[in-house]
Amino acid sequence: MKISPARRIKGKVRLPGDKSISHRAVLVAALANGESHVQNFSTSQDCASTLACLRELGVSIERKGNDVCVAVNGSLRAPAKSLDCGNSGSTMRMLAGILAGQDFAATLTGDNSLQSRPMKRIIEPLEMMGARVVSQQGRPPLRIEGHRPLEPITYELPVASAQVKTCLLLAGLFANGRTEIRETLGITRDHTERMLQWFGAPIEIVQTREKRSSTCAVVGPVGLTAHQVRVPGDFSSATFFIAAAALLPGSELEIEAVGLNPTRTQFLATLRSLGAKIEITATREDCNEPVGTVRIQGPASPGEMQEGSAITIEGQVADRLIDELPLLAVVGTQTPGGLVIRDARELRLKETDRIAATVKNLRAMGAQVEEYEDGLAIARRARLQGARLDSYGDHRIAMAFSVAALLAEGDSEIFGSECVAISFPEFFDCLESVVER
Ligand code: S3P
Repeated sequence: MKISPARRIKGKVRLPGDKSISHRAVLVAALANGESHVQNFSTSQDCASTLACLRELGVSIERKGNDVCVAVNGSLRAPAKSLDCGNSGSTMRMLAGILAGQDFAATLTGDNSLQSRPMKRIIEPLEMMGARVVSQQGRPPLRIEGHRPLEPITYELPVASAQVKTCLLLAGLFANGRTEIRETLGITRDHTERMLQWFGAPIEIVQTREKRSSTCAVVGPVGLTAHQVRVPGDFSSATFFIAAAALLPGSELEIEAVGLNPTRTQFLATLRSLGAKIEITATREDCNEPVGTVRIQGPASPGEMQEGSAITIEGQVADRLIDELPLLAVVGTQTPGGLVIRDARELRLKETDRIAATVKNLRAMGAQVEEYEDGLAIARRARLQGARLDSYGDHRIAMAFSVAALLAEGDSEIFGSECVAISFPEFFDCLESVVER
């Protein structure tokens, strides 16, 4: 994909349904008695992988555009073949929790990227609960031999991961007693807790006052009842538009009906701390998730947005920005004092090694970047040059560097840009609809 520099961003967008929430909506619906309807279901390939796996498990799924009807006839059934999770770590880790509580065995597999991702983080606790998981030295394919009922456990997450938390909460639905999950390294996105509550499950949540740690618990076995879900626009998809508008002088952008769950919106606070003009209006709760409109005004002149010196993203703030860090590194090339990202080792374990991919692409564009094991540092503002960039098959790298290409001098070429479909197939069309050159 060739991308030319932009003058500014102008207009209004409404984004497809949130990927994280869509996965959870249909996974939970597949465990609920009756027929559930999910509106504005994510258009991502990842969520299509979740639907395909559920179909293999005997769940009736009817999809008309972005509306999905999910119904189960009694319980899940043993799949006739391996469940293909494609590129989706969320599908594999979250579905594993459900499979652990079944009275059959199933195999979860995926593409080359997914097959290289660490699964010990779910294998260990699921085995503590009584399931048996056969892996390839902690990596997929995973053969999960379910056990009924599971043993409830109290478990402190060794990595700040919403996928692991979700896996265990879903397994907890099939346990006899109280499954408690403690997050002491940072509080991750809470869409599963909210979705389970929306479907009528009693989920207990206790957070420390300064919100540095949190415990959630479910007492199984839990019966769920079918429900309607409206999925808000995907905040992570919105961030690419927000960054472009916040950096390009004269921009004015409105993003309607986007999810504003506080476990996802750290990016807004970080951009505001750099001087970005962001306004939030029309906030409301929809299906137990906060939703609203985000308005962004670009700087009046180049360089006006960023005040102050270098900022450092580290600790729990880095966890809360985990999907936005490559994009934030791009933003960091436009701040006078540069930007430092630390404590982000997990980025190396995503769809690709996102630290290495970000560093290589930024250097190709002429930025001065230092690479650390757990992050990177951008020394100072750079005049980005159009370049030949690589997505490394990773959707968030492709989209972050599309934003970089809009800011650059001269055209850029992004190889493997079709991978944006993993989370946001309409990305380039949507971007072109608000770019002015
Ligand atoms: C996700 C959790 C995060 C995130 C991923 C989606 C989720 O992964 O990076 O894109 O929907 O729960 P981890 O749980 O591995 O941090």
